[in-house]
Amino acid sequence: MCGIIGITGKRPVYTLITDTLKRLEYRGYDSAGLATTSQGRIDLWRAQGKLHNLEALIARSHEPPPGTCGIGHTRWATHGRPTENNAHPHISDNVAVVHNGIIENFRTLKSQLEKKGVHFTSETDSEVIVHTIDHHLKQGDSPLRATQKTLACLEGAFAIVILFREHPTMLIGARRGSPLAIGISEDTEEMYLSSDAIALAPFTQKICYLEEGDHAVITPHQFTLYNANNKKVERAFTLTATSGAISGKGEFPHYMLKEIYEQPAVVGETLETFIDSLKRTITMPSIGTIFGQSTTCRLIACGTSYYAAQVARILLERYAHISVHCDYASEFRYRDPMLRDGQPCLFISQSGETADTLAAMRLVRQHKKGKKNPCIALVNVAESSLARESDHFIVTHAGPEIGVASTKAFTTQLAALSCLTLALADHRGTLPQATIQTLANALIEVPTRINQILKQADAIKDIAHDLAKAHHVMYLGRDSLYPIALEGALKLKEIAYIHAHAHAAGEMKHGPIALIDETMPSIILAPPSAVQVKTLSNMAEIASRGGPIILISDARAIKKSAPQHAFAMPEVHDFTNPILYTIPIQLLAYHTAVSLGTDVDQPKNLAKAVTVE
Ligand code: AGP
Repeated sequence: MCGIIGITGKRPVYTLITDTLKRLEYRGYDSAGLATTSQGRIDLWRAQGKLHNLEALIARSHEPPPGTCGIGHTRWATHGRPTENNAHPHISDNVAVVHNGIIENFRTLKSQLEKKGVHFTSETDSEVIVHTIDHHLKQGDSPLRATQKTLACLEGAFAIVILFREHPTMLIGARRGSPLAIGISEDTEEMYLSSDAIALAPFTQKICYLEEGDHAVITPHQFTLYNANNKKVERAFTLTATSGAISGKGEFPHYMLKEIYEQPAVVGETLETFIDSLKRTITMPSIGTIFGQSTTCRLIACGTSYYAAQVARILLERYAHISVHCDYASEFRYRDPMLRDGQPCLFISQSGETADTLAAMRLVRQHKKGKKNPCIALVNVAESSLARESDHFIVTHAGPEIGVASTKAFTTQLAALSCLTLALADHRGTLPQATIQTLANALIEVPTRINQILKQADAIKDIAHDLAKAHHVMYLGRDSLYPIALEGALKLKEIAYIHAHAHAAGEMKHGPIALIDETMPSIILAPPSAVQVKTLSNMAEIASRGGPIILISDARAIKKSAPQHAFAMPEVHDFTNPILYTIPIQLLAYHTAVSLGTDVDQPKNLAKAVTVE
């Protein structure tokens, strides 16, 4: 998704902006730009492609962008191709704007403005914002009034920051549906507006997130906040927990590999948050209160987070005897869901900013019949919109995840959901304490087991070398490993751009088996469990039709089946197999992508947080 920064202060601003855009690259983008104001003019710099193209453009100019007030943007194309002309900022005679989101009524606004003689230069929806503001300025409105009139006619989601030619130290920011934060630095006497706290971390930890409909006027020494009704409003500033400048890749070639190798530590830290390692008891005190006597719940998410929900469904039903509905947020938000009174709804999102998941939570909030449905958010960003709008939130401790393809955020979600399962089993008395302690012990063992797997990573590299030649790959798993098969297929698609599909192993005979031939490898996830034998039978059905096999299982099963390729896994309690079997499928996708030379950390067309629907 697009990244936004606005800075007003005393220092020359353009290098502050380009440095910030570097910290926003992880969000995924296809063009970048910046604008500054000084001496009664706006200077605009935009380039297609990566940030170094923008920096090279600026370096070629005789005079770098002047001014101490400016805005910057990394664009993830929604309306209009990823070209320089469509890059932000968009500019008019008196205004420059950067925008994250989608203006749904832009065609109507554009035709109204064109009838007034306004000339558009881009294919984007965002450009209507800048010309609408400019129109009101030319009618004599102040920057604030012109902005408020513009906001009133926009439909859709946006976070915007606006620069004014005739007010060289002022910026105005506004949010509706996409996050925007104000940052203050007394040391440097600067004020900031940004789409996320990571961008501001090197400048300040003092952050205030705008709420839905808020807009703010900032200058180097003061800010004024207004709510959706244009009334002045106070909002609390917090010290963000987001760490400082993103630590680099270290000795790793990609953030994704670094984050795969961070999993023992961050999964361990997440588990320690919820498990008393001495007593082997679960410490999620409020979960029992929130769930009360409810015997059902809903899990709602997107993408990889949805697969975490699918794993949790199996664990919650098996160990806590809770009936679970899982929904894609993008589907749920347009359905007429039959919510039970008081039924807890858990929203899973590493970014906490996914538009569909946010909209799903807001839909549940509107469900007023009978007892309210408690909304719980499981997020990796404590200051995210989803966390702030929930009744209760649980934070995973993955730390900033820079690789667009989710790795450590996913396994820490599984760790937290496993702890949630034990907390509810304890609260509902569905497991004896001895069993809860056995399962807690199995969880505490997970970081060690992940390390054990990572030490065998070279074996995965060899398999990946062959996999890179395939054009179609099938993943199979059963029970709590079926969602991991889905995640494996998604990872391969996302970063290696290889068509991959995943099925519940028992479903293979109901159609996908028609695809089996020697050109399509099948990756079988078959840990020791009640369904291992059946999954290995499915594998034999593939092998007998000449389908190449990659078996991820325990050593005994591998010895017995002797597939073309195999990766031996440690034998653990089935409760923790989903987390552990995620590691080889991440490594497989990563090494396959590297051998194909794709952009592993910022795969084409992908964004780290999908803040538009
Ligand atoms: C993960 O590898 C994907 N990039 C994507 O599916 C992601 O999981 C999805 O967009 C949901 O994001 P969230 O967890 O931030 O809501």
